[in-house]
Amino acid sequence: MSRPDRFLLAGVMGWPVMHSRSPALHNYWFAHYGLAGAYVPLAIEPDDLERALRALAPLGFSGCNLTIPHKEAALAIVDRVDPVARRIGAMNCVVVAPDGSLEGQNHDAFGFVESIREAQPNWRADAGPIVVIGAGGGARAVLVSLIDQGAREIRLVNRTPARGKALAGELGCPITALGWEQREVALKGAAMLVNATNQGMVGEPPLDLALDALPVSALVSDIIYIPRETALLAAARKRGNPTVNGLGMLLHQARPAFQAWFGIMPEVTPELRAMIEATT
Ligand SMILES: NC(=O)c1ccc[n+]([C@@H]2O[C@H](COP(=O)([O-])OP(=O)(O)OC[C@H]3O[C@@H](n4cnc5c(N)ncnc54)[C@H](OP(=O)(O)O)[C@@H]3O)[C@@H](O)[C@H]2O)c1
Repeated sequence: MSRPDRFLLAGVMGWPVMHSRSPALHNYWFAHYGLAGAYVPLAIEPDDLERALRALAPLGFSGCNLTIPHKEAALAIVDRVDPVARRIGAMNCVVVAPDGSLEGQNHDAFGFVESIREAQPNWRADAGPIVVIGAGGGARAVLVSLIDQGAREIRLVNRTPARGKALAGELGCPITALGWEQREVALKGAAMLVNATNQGMVGEPPLDLALDALPVSALVSDIIYIPRETALLAAARKRGNPTVNGLGMLLHQARPAFQAWFGIMPEVTPELRAMIEATT
C-alpha cells in the first residue's frame, strides 16, 4: 500500500557516479511539482550491487537509476525485467514494487525517440533508410527504438564488424550490418544518420566519417551530449542538414523513471534544459 505522507526517495547507483546529471534533473522535478523528496548519487562497488539493490525497499526508496558499470549485471539480480530492457540487454532503471520486489526497466530507447520528436515533430522512422554507427550499449537502445517506431531499413556500421553482425542477428529485420569501410557508401539515400559511438565526445577524436554522400535533407543525430555540438553535428549543420544532439535523450529518459517511481510524468521545461546545459 502506498504511503502518501512519506518522503520520496530515489537515486543513481554507479561507480563513480558524482558526474551524473540525474540528481540535478530529478531534484528539479521534486521542486517543480512541490513534492517532498530527494534523489541522491550512490557510489556502489560492483561487488555490493546486489545488497545495495535489496536495501532499496527497506530504506524507503521508490527505485534508482543504474549507470556504469551496473547496467548489465543488474539483469541477473532483479526479480523482473521488462521486455524493452531485455531486448536492449541492459537496464538503466529499477522500480521497487509495493511488495518490495524489484523490476528492471530501460528508458534510453524512449529518451532517444522523444528527443528526435521534440526536435522534429513530423519525424517518421519509416521515412527512408537510417544509418546507425556503433554497436555498443547506446546503439542497442537506439536500434530498439527505431525498430519499435517502424523503421524499415537500418544500415548498421560498426568498427568491429562481428559485433555489428551479432547485434543485427539478435535484433533482426530490418537491420543490415555493414563493414567499417562501407560507412560512407551507406550514407547514400539515407533519411537519417545516428552516431552511437563514443567518437566525438570530449577526450575522443571526431568520428571519422565524410558526409559527402548524405542527402542534405537527412536528419543527423549524435547521442553524445558533451560537447553539445560534436564535430559531426557541426559538419552536418554547415552543409544544411538538420541536427539533434544527445542532451534530449538524456533528459527524456528520466521522465518515465520519475513517473514509475512517483506517479507523475514530468516535463522537460526550457528552464530544466538550460540548467542541465549549463553543466555540459
Ligand atoms: N544521450 C544519452 O542519453 C546517451 C545514452 C547512452 C550513451 N550515450 C553516449 O554514447 C556514446 C557511446 O556509449 P556506449 O555506452 O554505447 O559505449 P560502448 O558500449 O562502449 O560502445 C562504444 C561504441 O563506439 C565504437 N568505437 C569506439 N572507439 C571507436 C573508434 N576509434 N572508431 C570507431 N568506433 C569506435 C565501438 O566500436 P567497437 O565495437 O568496434 O569497439 C562501439 O560501437 C558515449 O559517448 C555515451 O556518453 C549517450
